[in-house]
Amino acid sequence: MHIWLLPLPAERETPHCFPAAYQLLPTVDCIRASRLPRSADRNRFTLAHALCRAMLAHFGNRPAPDWILTAGPKGRPQIAPEQTPQNLDFNLSHTQNLVGCALGIGERVGLDLERTDRAINMAKVAARKFAESERDQLAAVEGTARRTQFFALWTLKEAHAKLTGSGLTKMRETAFDLSGDHPKCRLRHQSNPDDQHPPHRQLGLFRPTPDHQAAWALATANPTRSTPQIRTWTLAEFARHLQAT
Ligand SMILES: CC(C)(COP(=O)(O)OP(=O)(O)OC[C@H]1O[C@@H](n2cnc3c(N)ncnc32)[C@H](O)[C@@H]1OP(=O)(O)O)[C@@H](O)C(=O)NCCC(=O)NCCS
Repeated sequence: MHIWLLPLPAERETPHCFPAAYQLLPTVDCIRASRLPRSADRNRFTLAHALCRAMLAHFGNRPAPDWILTAGPKGRPQIAPEQTPQNLDFNLSHTQNLVGCALGIGERVGLDLERTDRAINMAKVAARKFAESERDQLAAVEGTARRTQFFALWTLKEAHAKLTGSGLTKMRETAFDLSGDHPKCRLRHQSNPDDQHPPHRQLGLFRPTPDHQAAWALATANPTRSTPQIRTWTLAEFARHLQAT
């Protein structure tokens, strides 16, 4: 599994690689970007989708603009079936000041990035979206540790939901456990029809910046624990990469 990250500048600044990034996008995504009212959101959307295409071009066999990305079951973005002989899977995530994309080769992937200093009603989200065992883990810690625990559990839940494509509606069906060396998940219904992916589930957490929590999820046929290869680009490096490709 590979993860590419691109930290973005302050909200009011448009990164100078924006035009080159925009050029990689198909018309449909240019239209989506142009409909976003805030320039920070347009920048973020455009850079996230350009990063995803640059990653597909790097690990796949097509130039970045030529990938056809469609919505699969439940709206999960996927490579068009006619372009998947290499069995690539991707998942992108964007949050304030950071975008990222995960890519699996013969593996199904999910990625979630969250800014941890934003205002959030943790108790309300936990009551609605967390399983009982997760609420217990949250209740066991206080202060800053509770916020850290909350975002760890939340990003794991989202990364896993993004791997399966199930969205945020069945979040309480899957409980995550942070007590061991690596996070683990437990599905309430082992025969969940939404979850027909390779059998071995792996999860991980990392802090891409001091202000962000990240989680990845992987469904693979290989039981050996894998470590994602994480590459963090600077905007200047990414601009040079776009120019060179
Ligand atoms: C995809 C989803 C599950 C997560 O969204 P999110 O955390 O807001 O955003 P992320 O940046 O991590 O992911 C968005 C990307 O996931 C991908 N995505 C969209 N639907 C998806 C699905 N069903 N499965 C997997 N990935 C999906 C898309 O590429 C999307 O980016 P795009 O809209 O620019 O194409 C979304 O459907 C959703 O419902 N979000 C609500 C978030 C929320 O309630 N947060 C509350 C509290 S902390």
